[in-house]
Amino acid sequence: MLRYLLCPLFFAMFGLANAQNNSLNLIPQPAEWQVTNGTYALTRGATIGFDKPEGRAIAEMLAQKLNTPTGFSLKAQQSTSAAIQLRLNNTPDARLGQEGYTLESTPKGIVMTANQPAGLFYAMQTLLQLFPKEVESKTVAKADWNIPLVKIADYPRFAWRGIMLDVSRHFFSKEDVKTHIDQIARLKYNTFHWHLTDDNGWRIEIKSLPKLTSVGAWRVQRAGRFGDRADPKPDEPATYGGFYTHDDIREIVRYAQERFVTIVPEIDVPGHSMAAIAAYPELSCTKNPDTKVNPGTPFSEWYGNGTFKMNIDNTLNPSDEKVYEFLDKVFAEVAVLFPNPYIHVGGDECYKGYWKEDPGCQALMKKLNIRHVEDLQGYFMGRVEQILHSKGKKLLGWDEILEGGISPNATVMSWRGIKGGIEAAQMGHDVVMTPTTYAYLDYNQGEPTIDPPIYAYLRAKKSYSFEPVPDGVDPKYILGGQGNLWTEQVPTLRYAQYMTYPRAWALSEVYWSPKEKKNWEDFANRMEAHFARADVAEINYSRAVYDAIVKTRRQDGKLWLEMDNEMPGLDIFYSIDDTMPDRFSSKYVQPIELPEGPITLRVITYRDGKPIGHLITLSREALEKRAGRF
Ligand code: ACM
Repeated sequence: MLRYLLCPLFFAMFGLANAQNNSLNLIPQPAEWQVTNGTYALTRGATIGFDKPEGRAIAEMLAQKLNTPTGFSLKAQQSTSAAIQLRLNNTPDARLGQEGYTLESTPKGIVMTANQPAGLFYAMQTLLQLFPKEVESKTVAKADWNIPLVKIADYPRFAWRGIMLDVSRHFFSKEDVKTHIDQIARLKYNTFHWHLTDDNGWRIEIKSLPKLTSVGAWRVQRAGRFGDRADPKPDEPATYGGFYTHDDIREIVRYAQERFVTIVPEIDVPGHSMAAIAAYPELSCTKNPDTKVNPGTPFSEWYGNGTFKMNIDNTLNPSDEKVYEFLDKVFAEVAVLFPNPYIHVGGDECYKGYWKEDPGCQALMKKLNIRHVEDLQGYFMGRVEQILHSKGKKLLGWDEILEGGISPNATVMSWRGIKGGIEAAQMGHDVVMTPTTYAYLDYNQGEPTIDPPIYAYLRAKKSYSFEPVPDGVDPKYILGGQGNLWTEQVPTLRYAQYMTYPRAWALSEVYWSPKEKKNWEDFANRMEAHFARADVAEINYSRAVYDAIVKTRRQDGKLWLEMDNEMPGLDIFYSIDDTMPDRFSSKYVQPIELPEGPITLRVITYRDGKPIGHLITLSREALEKRAGRF
């Protein structure tokens, strides 16, 4: 890439060697940086200057962000001589692109430059991370408001850096959504994928189809594990839910724009549509008037090889013209509300069993000369794409859209691993990489007996190791990637944060920073510094990286124990004699053969002589059960 070739020039310009220094705790780490001795000290009398009107909003945001913890009254003003300068280049600096920036601090002040306001916004995020963690305080805090002397030149590796939030399985208020967007923007994510509809709630007001929200946004109250819950009773009131009005959406879109985040709305069709069908049963093949918005019942069966059955019809009928009239109304309103050129139309996990039995679908298959019912999805998606084009929008869908025939202009979001992404890129489609194996933030991130159980695991270290451009794929088709948070098990924003961080920190670096600079040990140090910042900011995160990784395997009829740690520098202590382990217990150094008998393993991590991870307790039965699984 041209940018990499130009970088040494930047540092030659400043007369500095292009050596790296790891003393900055920035996430995502910048493309290029240098640190020299000394500090810039922010003072009460400092001003924040912007040279062009487009820099004003960012300068004001910075003043506000600094004034809260410092108690200063810093002002933003149009100026080229302020202590903190935000400058927009008159002649674009090619290596910085649309989102890049430079930041230089000297004892006298700070200068940030960019080609576009987005770059200044990211320069501001970097600057805030250079201040002590108390800068995150929501009230006046005590700290030395100093930053190190740095020269930074930074720009993203990928143009698409996204976080998905599912607001259907659980509803998140307008304020929650704004808070989440604000937090991801600070990590230089620029795309918020908003999963607005599913079986468990339709969350966007469609004025021409009022029942979508008067009925589809509400389900019966249930406690307990999602997926194990009881069916709604016939006359039970549906009291859990909510939706976003057009005004709410305009407010959120504006709020996101101020943070250089674009919103990609998802209307998930033709499957995952039970909430829409509860409102308008005539849209499905079965037309069951008793269909209810699903409160998390076990209505699907999964057979382990990617095949499945839906015991309640949650699919739109592809053979009914009224379905396309419905979709035309939905997308007409969605297209106006969201400026993003893409609308995500889902396409995932669509069960075709009800289509197969339906005379209308059979007649359509005959007419189209289609032999397999699966191919009806290709027809459906083609019709949806025509509707989107009529509204000036582009189609984006999950990788299942490849299966029934795909239009040349469709963009594919690869989630079932990277296979779909590779196939799509080889066919010349744009791809957003978001494989379950690296990017699913709903998966359990540590020891499964500590965190509430989820059906799959994904540790922060694995997310960090993600490479979005597979071998043999032309990188120009890989727009970037996302982290996806499905919320079956996530009822609150605070828990959404717990599931999101630190994995979204790891992924921010995957999508922003140069691949060549990736280093887990170095990231882990910076991650710890960000734990401390998140504590001050009152942002929740998982500390699973401090827990031991406990694996077992069966070999020659014996059960072997293997342990590891994600966080460098931890000691693992354990007992199998029904005592509580501490730093005087057995220290794990190599795989051990576990003795026969009803033993219980107890494990705890220490650092510098102090306990740091959770106590993990596993019975013999649990140890046997996990053999070869992790
Ligand atoms: C998906 O996770 N069903 C896209």
